[in-house]
Amino acid sequence: MRIIHTIYHRYTINCNLFTMKIPTFIITIFIISFIASVFADDYLANEYSSTVLKVPNMADLSAVDDDLSYSLYHESCPDVEGIIYRKVKEWVTKDPTLAPSLLRLQYHDCVVRGCDASILLDHEGSERSSNMSKSLRGFEVIDDIKAEIEKKCPKTVSCADILTTAARDATVLVGGPYWMIPFGRKDGRVSLAKEATIVPKGSESAHTIGRTTCESVQHRLYDYKGTKGPDPSLNPKYLNYLRRKCRWASETVSLDGETPNTFDTQYYHNLKKSMGILSTDQLLYSDSRTKPVANGLSFESSLFKNQFGVSMVKLSSILDLTSQDEGEIRGDCKYVNH
Ligand code: HEM
Repeated sequence: MRIIHTIYHRYTINCNLFTMKIPTFIITIFIISFIASVFADDYLANEYSSTVLKVPNMADLSAVDDDLSYSLYHESCPDVEGIIYRKVKEWVTKDPTLAPSLLRLQYHDCVVRGCDASILLDHEGSERSSNMSKSLRGFEVIDDIKAEIEKKCPKTVSCADILTTAARDATVLVGGPYWMIPFGRKDGRVSLAKEATIVPKGSESAHTIGRTTCESVQHRLYDYKGTKGPDPSLNPKYLNYLRRKCRWASETVSLDGETPNTFDTQYYHNLKKSMGILSTDQLLYSDSRTKPVANGLSFESSLFKNQFGVSMVKLSSILDLTSQDEGEIRGDCKYVNH
């Protein structure tokens, strides 16, 4: 009893403002915590939710593919995925740099008028002719696949579905994840160069493969934002390498300086070493909202690949109502039907 009494007095809280015994203290803390949690919930709902990244999963995607179907070509073109895979493999084996190019082509298609193959239309003033599209590649791969598919199942498979599937297979071929693709995208009839400029200038984890023209990098190397010096957020050794590699704007350099041909988490490790080549890539690591995610993904290869697959399903399910309502199955991916 004496011991308990001593402990009770030793741990009695004494401060200048108030004096409390332990039970009173505990109750007070409990009440304060409760009130704080009520306010915190409100705060989190309003503020925090807009800054913290929610990691989606496949279950969240059930609504995105309402207009699309996994079985669309089961009867009308049963080997469509086989044809596309074999063709992509043939091209990528000959030229591995085509794999990232196909993935990027899909991205540029889907962010303008949804995934409707508008990026493939080849006429004056089309998206493809815009300055934003000048380093896009891989068009010939899609044309080749389309020609083969037209022989087997004419007027059946849209160019938008072909591009979507080719981008997936290209990713798989360089070690990336596989994701299921529902079909039924229509090919749009409209493609405007000025709309290609809305392709965001941000960053993406797809930059674990592929390359960039030095044009997108040179501003970081010498007179960054008028400072007469390089971008201070660039790793000094990497800076020297880039200065040697990027003498001309038209040269190209790998987006992932360590493992450019493999779809892996090295991209995130590079960010930790200040080796993100596009400033928008490096921002992923310097922004406190995305840094924990970038850090986590660097150690979790399977999570990264899984999340990438989820994001690609979302991206390739973007459909624009007008493009779809007035859309068609093009005979040649470069031109609308007449
Ligand atoms: C959010 C904004 C994004 C920005 C600002 C961006 C920016 C860029 C830039 C500047 C290049 C180099 C282009 C050049 O100069 O040749 C590039 C290449 C690339 N981007 Fe992005 N990108 C973004 C998102 C994405 C997304 C979402 C994907 C894929 C889903 C993607 C996949 C690629 C790939 C694979 C390459 C390499 C292409 C090749 O080697 O031919 N990017 N990106």
